[in-house]
Amino acid sequence: MTLTDLPEWHDLENHFTTVQNLQLRDLFANDPDRGSRLSLQAGDLYLDFSKNRVTDETLAKLIALAKACGIESTRDAMFAGVKINTTEQRAVLHTALRNTSDQPVYTDGIDVMSEIHTELKKMSEFSDNIRDKKLLGFDGRPIKNVVNIGIGGSDLGPVMVTEALKYYSDRSLQIRFISNIDANNFAEVTRDLDPAESLFIIASKTFTTDETMTNALTAREWLLASGAVDTDIAKHFVALSTNTEKVTEFGIDSANMFVFWHWVGGRYSLTSAIGLSIMIAIGPEHFKELLEGFYDMDQHFKTAPLENNMPVILAMLGVWYGNFFGAETEAILPYDQYLHRFPAYFQQGNMESNGKSVTKSGEPVRYKTGPVVWGEPGTNGQHAFYQLLHQGTHLIPADFIGTIEPLNNIGEHHQKLTANLLAQTKALAFGKTALELEAEGVSSELIAHKTFTGNRPTNTILMTKLTPHSLGQLIALYEHKIFVQGVIWDINSFDQWGVELGKVLATDIYQKLKERGSDADDSSTANLLKRFSS
Ligand code: F6P
Repeated sequence: MTLTDLPEWHDLENHFTTVQNLQLRDLFANDPDRGSRLSLQAGDLYLDFSKNRVTDETLAKLIALAKACGIESTRDAMFAGVKINTTEQRAVLHTALRNTSDQPVYTDGIDVMSEIHTELKKMSEFSDNIRDKKLLGFDGRPIKNVVNIGIGGSDLGPVMVTEALKYYSDRSLQIRFISNIDANNFAEVTRDLDPAESLFIIASKTFTTDETMTNALTAREWLLASGAVDTDIAKHFVALSTNTEKVTEFGIDSANMFVFWHWVGGRYSLTSAIGLSIMIAIGPEHFKELLEGFYDMDQHFKTAPLENNMPVILAMLGVWYGNFFGAETEAILPYDQYLHRFPAYFQQGNMESNGKSVTKSGEPVRYKTGPVVWGEPGTNGQHAFYQLLHQGTHLIPADFIGTIEPLNNIGEHHQKLTANLLAQTKALAFGKTALELEAEGVSSELIAHKTFTGNRPTNTILMTKLTPHSLGQLIALYEHKIFVQGVIWDINSFDQWGVELGKVLATDIYQKLKERGSDADDSSTANLLKRFSS
């Protein structure tokens, strides 16, 4: 039975017609405890979901839909190593990477935990060596620059977490990232680096990604041009990959390789060897705390009843707005500058996972699937795009993420930052009516312009403090939200066939550019190619 044929779906459709015009103002006025009632604590995270356009009945019906779609059994299958990535015949076991318990995790009858522990140990030793300035470059000076070359999941997670946990990082090391095939990226990242003090981490699950391989070759040339010889390469290059053959083919000794496994999806890989740059930056102990945070949220997701399950609640609210109210996008708005890459990270996490239009069995879906995900940190966004959030014609559900205690306690910055967060969610929910404006003496010709309709939904997620542990929980929260929505929509959240066509066409066009050819089977591409062929 397809999603839209389920009785629970019909029930929600009928219910929607009766509640779609309810006002948050009224919901709050009629229920003085709503703000605390519709909230949840899971580990370090507090979720206030009271400013959503839902009643208790709505929430119960959304949870009924989640149950009818088999969230619990599919979740258990994922944790148990079942091959739920059916188009690639793979298990989805990123949760094993952060299994800090002593419980085994099996897939294909093999406990994967011992190889995970072996790799974590190797990463710790290597990170400590760099942090203790014991890893020496080709002229005997210690390595102090670490450049991760990777793209997508082999870049965004390490970038996001090294930024988020910068407070905990070793400031004597430079940790940098090159992702784009655009040479400007390579040139600017390396321009002030001394090759003799630089280590390149080539991060690629497949070790075939053109951007990464092109940048890795350029890095090798850059090193050799500085006086290093071929035998020095081993001191300056390590690889993070699942593909030993390709790593060796590239010229990196398998002894300098940190492995992970096909059952780790690229966009779910930051707690695998792909996180090496993170571990070097923050140290093995903090990395362990990060894993423990992930694990705690995994346990919450696995064991909490669906009605008190944070990822499930966030996911079902997303379904409510996307499938019933017709919202097209979702904003992630962290009120913490350290989290400035968090929205970009989950843009890939969400859009590559749930940007699908066929069901697991290949039937076209008859409903909207994953939303467009975007965002920027507050308060910057307030002075950029919040105008549209408040008074535009789109309904944009938004998550506001904040911390109770600041990391840098300077003056009144944190109180002001927090005041802005709370003020924005209040303004979005309750708005400002024409009557209120009149009472304030606003001139009649400006009333329409100054009116805020309100009734714009938000979640507020608070961490006590931004720590490796709380960050791990926050990331796992969003990962599991995406998982739940994928199950509801009956799509495979763990493949990404949609990125293939562009790669194939680029290979073909690259040949044409090299040959200065301009033939193409469409006139636009042919015409554009001509501009490069003279
Ligand atoms: O092209 C998309 C993609 O496959 C992502 O899913 C992945 O994170 C990224 O490319 C990088 O892939 P790899 O780690 O294999 O280089």
